Amino acid sequence: LGYFTYDPGYSSTGSCQSDITFIDGDQGILLYRGYPIEQLAEQSSFLEVASLLINGDLPTQSELVGFEDSITRHTMVNESLRIFFNGFHYNAHPMAMLTGVVGSLSAFYHDTIDINDPENRMLCAHRIIAKIPTIAAAAFKHMVGEPFVHPLNKLSYTGNLLNMLFARPSEDYEINPVAERALDQLLILHADHEQNASTSTVRMAGSTGANPFAAIASGCAALWGPAHGGANEAVLNMLSEIGSVDAVPKFIDRAKDKDDPFRLMGFGHRVYKNYDPRATIIRKTCHDVLNELGVGNDPQLELAMRLEEIALADDYFVERKLYPNVDFYSGIIYRALGIPTEFFTVMFAIGRTPGWVAQWMEMLTDPEQRIGRPRQLYTGAARRKYVPLHRRR
Ligand code: CMC
Repeated sequence: LGYFTYDPGYSSTGSCQSDITFIDGDQGILLYRGYPIEQLAEQSSFLEVASLLINGDLPTQSELVGFEDSITRHTMVNESLRIFFNGFHYNAHPMAMLTGVVGSLSAFYHDTIDINDPENRMLCAHRIIAKIPTIAAAAFKHMVGEPFVHPLNKLSYTGNLLNMLFARPSEDYEINPVAERALDQLLILHADHEQNASTSTVRMAGSTGANPFAAIASGCAALWGPAHGGANEAVLNMLSEIGSVDAVPKFIDRAKDKDDPFRLMGFGHRVYKNYDPRATIIRKTCHDVLNELGVGNDPQLELAMRLEEIALADDYFVERKLYPNVDFYSGIIYRALGIPTEFFTVMFAIGRTPGWVAQWMEMLTDPEQRIGRPRQLYTGAARRKYVPLHRRR
């Protein structure tokens, strides 16, 4: 068995070739299809970025209008799919609902999906990008015990998401443009990140020829973990646990203690050994959003900044090149927008969906593509003889 390399966690294995996202972890550079994340975050919209990721180039004006129109027309979900939510307990985690219901789309679009047909693949990409906010918002309304809000075609992608989350039948709800823009930017920052755990999971599941909605559901499941997309939720829980600036040194010591499982959530990254460029953008947006939404001085933002400052001056974090990642500040913005902590990872999943489908489509058209099938180093018992039950001791 000496013909493969043992690489736990695949830290030195290139599993595919990809034209989609470039990361230079030492320099802190992130490009989608060659465009720097800073420029996209500043000047683009989430749907424009989604189109870029799945089609390969920035859309022209008419292509963008066509794309937005198609996404808008696919936002509805079948009424019988909504009934699925009744089967979930009122306090089910929204990621459990999202994973289950996204997977169940495979039951609605099974016979019509021919993954070998490029038009069908693209239809599938549009459907999932369009429907994931509707499903996410339905999970939210189920969680808070309010009636479901239908998608509204006249709203933007992000405006519609905010409306489905926060509109109530007997109240007027006005979309705050600052919230809409901040959320759109967060979705852009999360849209793709090459072969991270959830994307690799989508590729792995998709490599078997599985139904694409089932493959995306497997990505949702992988994203949920606290070492991946679940870190944004874990960061705010950690900040609450730390409580005040005075307690920061104690928690820094705990993070450094190898006998203590506590880690600084939102810190460290497999690829970035420098400041995560997404965290730099979010950190700035955080201040702007809190000011413009009139939330003022958020004590948790101050706590987060102090924590960052102390950690970055500590040899332990410096030597290991542990910097804040995308999840460190995103939760503070989500919370300012009125999104509850346990829903943060769902927002991440909405943002990551164009990346998942772009990678899935790229994988299916790669001539080198084969079923994902890692090997292992067997460490179990040597061959031995079966012992009948009555003779076992
Ligand atoms: N707090 C304290 N120590 C840490 C941390 C941390 N957050 N992250 C890594 N380390 C230490 C780790 O103990 C190890 O030390 P040593 O060399 O002495 O054994 C060293 O740094 C290398 O860590 P690793 O676990 O081998 O690194 P990895 O590439 O396998 O893990 C990571 C990367 C992101 C899972 C990890 O840094 C971590 O658990 N961070 C906290 C969770 C988090 O913020 N996740 C979000 C990642 S970014 C967004 C996303 O992917 O969704």
